[in-house]
Amino acid sequence: MELYTWDSSFSMGDAELDKHHRVLIGLINDLYTAMMDGDGARASQAIYQRLREYTRFHFEAEEREMYQARYPEYGRHHEQHEGFTRHLDALAEEFGKKDGAPGSKMLGMMRNWLRTHIRSADVQYAEWLAAHPDLAALHAHSAGQEPPQASPGVE
Ligand SMILES: [Fe+2]
Repeated sequence: MELYTWDSSFSMGDAELDKHHRVLIGLINDLYTAMMDGDGARASQAIYQRLREYTRFHFEAEEREMYQARYPEYGRHHEQHEGFTRHLDALAEEFGKKDGAPGSKMLGMMRNWLRTHIRSADVQYAEWLAAHPDLAALHAHSAGQEPPQASPGVE
């Protein structure tokens, strides 16, 4: 069961960051499936926790690239990530209090935020990078750094 699927409008043309985004989309779908299948609060909470961890990992990786490439919108982009992270933290607190899943409203919020953010702010960065090949050489992926855990079934 999928809440939303990957398509080319999400592509930044950066294999590593695209992979991260696919994992995030996969985790949101996993969370949706767990909730719909009635797997209970425990299963949903575990996936939600993993979504938070992976989001943090991904934002750090993306920002590191932007910083290294001297992206002029780095600060604004960082703020957007911070805002989403704060929101996820607040939801986690709420989640901890309730004996249940985060709810379809929360899932909808995460899905919409990610979809909008990737297609606008992230793609904007990719376009800027493509227009500045000299600076693109400065950005480098941190070799050897692995995400917290690969999402099963998401490639
Ligand atoms: Fe981003």
